[in-house]
Amino acid sequence: MLITAQNITKSYQRKGKTKAPVQVLSNTDLSIESGKVYVILGRSGSGKSTLLNILSGLLTSSTGTVRYDDTDIYSLTDGELSQLRCKRVGYIPQGQSAVGTLTVRENVLLPTAIVGNANGFSRADHLLEQFGLTPLRDARPDELSGGELRRLSIARALINSPDVIFADEPTNDLDEENSRIVFEQLRNAAQSGAAVVIVTHELFAQEFADVVYRMQQGSLIREKGQ
Ligand SMILES: Nc1ncnc2c1ncn2[C@@H]1O[C@H](COP(=O)(O)OP(=O)(O)OP(=O)(O)O)[C@@H](O)[C@H]1O
Ligand SMILES: [Mg+2]
Repeated sequence: MLITAQNITKSYQRKGKTKAPVQVLSNTDLSIESGKVYVILGRSGSGKSTLLNILSGLLTSSTGTVRYDDTDIYSLTDGELSQLRCKRVGYIPQGQSAVGTLTVRENVLLPTAIVGNANGFSRADHLLEQFGLTPLRDARPDELSGGELRRLSIARALINSPDVIFADEPTNDLDEENSRIVFEQLRNAAQSGAAVVIVTHELFAQEFADVVYRMQQGSLIREKGQ
């Protein structure tokens, strides 16, 4: 799979008195290929989450196009876009996103309920094991620590073996040992053919990356790879 984002600009309208528009992304281009890990660095507020939301179809850009192979994702209907996102995209959000009424295992299985996945149960148990969550499989999210919740959202993003994974600061609440496990998992997903895009502040993340970008003044500047 190839994702091509071209000429992406995004302005937000502030809700305060001035209502002045703020331009966050300006004419940004990016190509994302299967089998590679992309790391995006950049200071807080530089537009990294905005870009991931646009690439994954959660947010529309002010200008520009995002194509998954030959499909312009913003020309799809809401239903078609939801199907594409469920089947092909794994998204690890910056914030907490577990469903409070479901157990850990049920949370990991959630994406399989939407698109179907015959191996869902065994894959869920395998992912729980890999992320050290087996003892917590029947717990509810409010019984978990920040790092455990983070690992849960990563396992959930991987359950359908997506073609592309967007990870927004996936190791925020984790110690170095667990952060390395997460980066190894994401690296393995790329080795199995996924395209992986990670926004992070971890300096060691660059070891796991094929391509490193820095978000600066609304555009991506390449620092490593191509
Ligand atoms: N819905 C919104 N309305 C108005 N402004 C917004 C909105 N969402 C984000 N912004 C602004 O856009 C800018 C970029 O935000 P974004 O969340 O993309 O940054 P980021 O690089 O992910 O930052 P961080 O590292 O802190 O997560 C910020 O200045 C933010 O205040
Ligand atoms: Mg962010």
